[in-house]
Amino acid sequence: MKISVYYTPESTPENEIPDCAVVIDVLRATTTIVTALNNGAKSVKAYSDLDLLTKESNLLPPESRLRLGERGGKKVDFCDLGNSPLDCTVETVSGKQLFISTTNGTRSLQRVQEAKTVIAGAMINYQAVVDYLQEKQPETLWLLGSGWEGGYSLEDTVCAGAIASLLVDTGKPDMIGNDEVIASIALYQQWQDKLLDLFKLSSHGQRLLRLALDDDLKYCSQKNITDTLPIQTSLGLVSLSN
Ligand code: MLT
Repeated sequence: MKISVYYTPESTPENEIPDCAVVIDVLRATTTIVTALNNGAKSVKAYSDLDLLTKESNLLPPESRLRLGERGGKKVDFCDLGNSPLDCTVETVSGKQLFISTTNGTRSLQRVQEAKTVIAGAMINYQAVVDYLQEKQPETLWLLGSGWEGGYSLEDTVCAGAIASLLVDTGKPDMIGNDEVIASIALYQQWQDKLLDLFKLSSHGQRLLRLALDDDLKYCSQKNITDTLPIQTSLGLVSLSN
């Protein structure tokens, strides 16, 4: 397994695609996707374009679909929900097909949607991601953060580091695809017991705090509260792995 960490979809090498990509948007898109599937949503389809989301979700009867939309941390007006994992309760999402568009996370999912395997990872399920990768041993693996509008994010990098720290054997430099792997592991080692503190320092964490979403930050900073593993089953659509 050769592992590379990319902080944003924009920083990935052009015209390349890995065997397996783990898409990470800890605050909050992939945490929300994991939570929704854990709480019984049938599937989640990701869109970067809200018009397309509207058009495709209109093909389903209202009672079997939910639209989740976020821009700048806020709920998109016409959507049923924003992007808070705390809104994805069993009562709300069970049995529903979800259609989601967020500022950054859905763009990361789209960047790697042609990969043989695409997984959604977050702090709340990273051990399940590691277990899957250890079993499947993909030849090339990208841990892909979402960042914020093309820029670096602490929360996605620390999650990539949590995953990489359990996979990389530093005695085998051939496993290390780029320097970001070691940098992300170092960030994780420094902050692993203070993730909420780190998220409060991050720029998107501060944006969410300004929107009074403190509970979202707290929820997203928990480690491995579920073994739910969202995996892409058709282009842009993730469901539970079997
Ligand atoms: C994103 O995709 O940029 C995020 O998930 C933003 C958020 O809703 O916190």
